[in-house]
This record gives sequence, C-alpha cells and structure tokens, in this order.
Amino acid sequence: MSERLKNKVVIITGAASGMGKAIAELFARQGAKIIAGDLNEDGVKSVVEKIKQAGGEAIAVKANVANQADIDNLFSSAENSFHGLDILVNNAGIMDNMEPVANVTDSDQNGSAFSQ
Ligand SMILES: NC(=O)c1ccc[n+]([C@@H]2O[C@H](COP(=O)([O-])OP(=O)(O)OC[C@H]3O[C@@H](n4cnc5c(N)ncnc54)[C@H](O)[C@@H]3O)[C@@H](O)[C@H]2O)c1
Repeated sequence: MSERLKNKVVIITGAASGMGKAIAELFARQGAKIIAGDLNEDGVKSVVEKIKQAGGEAIAVKANVANQADIDNLFSSAENSFHGLDILVNNAGIMDNMEPVANVTDSDQNGSAFSQ
C-alpha cells in the first residue's frame, strides 16, 4: 500500500468502532500518525493496539466530543505526542437541525451520539 499520508498527524473521533475504526486503520496503513478518540476507552485502546502491532503509530484518548475539555485534550495530545495536526476526521456526532457548520454552537448537542 502507498504511504501517501506518511507522517501526517490525524485526529479521528469515534475511532473505537464502525467507520472511525476503519478510517484509523486505513490511515495508519498509509503512514499517518493517529490520535484515536472515543467515549469507549477500552475500544479505542484496542484499535490503537492493533495499529501498533501492524507497525503503525497511534495513541488512544478517551474523549467525548460533547465535552470541550475532552476536545482540548485531543488537540493537546496531537501537539504533545506528534508536534502538530494535519487532518481532523470529525466522525463522531449527530447533527439534528442540519445547519451549515459555521452556524453550529456548543449548545447543539441533542443528537443520540451525544447522549451516551
Ligand atoms: N454508518 C452509516 O451508514 C452512517 C451514515 C451517515 C452518517 N453516519 C455517521 O457517521 C458516524 C459514524 O457512524 P458509524 O456507523 O461508524 O457509527 P458506530 O456506532 O459504529 O461508531 C460510532 C463511534 O462513535 C463513538 N461515539 C459516540 N458518541 C460519541 C461521543 N459523544 N464522543 C466520542 N465518541 C462517540 C462510539 O463509542 C462509537 O465507537 C456517526 O456520526 C453516524 O451518525 C453513519
């Protein structure tokens, strides 16, 4: 497989399962350095372990995307572990009222993904 994402630093939210997990594993195979965030700490640790066993670089961060402190911690983890950020995969989340992203506020947190 090509390494077109070699050394790109990527945050992926909702990375413990489903599409987030698949994106984390694919990006790692392409050479990216992964910050895998999820509510499900055991799940995201398991994804990171699998990436490392395959020779990739990744860290797991327990993060609820509805919690500002957790989001800040995701970005700090990128800076502290990999010295920056190139790509954000904002995978975890439900948008109820389908507004342009620039109009979304912190109070728009009523989707089912946020209620866990
Ligand atoms: N699968 C589809 O067909 C589809 C279609 C359109 C949109 N989506 C959206 O794509 C995203 C991923 O879908 P999926 O099918 O892979 O879902 P999934 O349920 O398989 O995985 C979602 C992951 O997000 C995590 N998560 C949930 N709430 C979270 C929160 N508040 N903070 C951090 N992590 C959280 C869960 O623990 C889980 O690991 C979701 O936002 C979903 O609504 C999916």
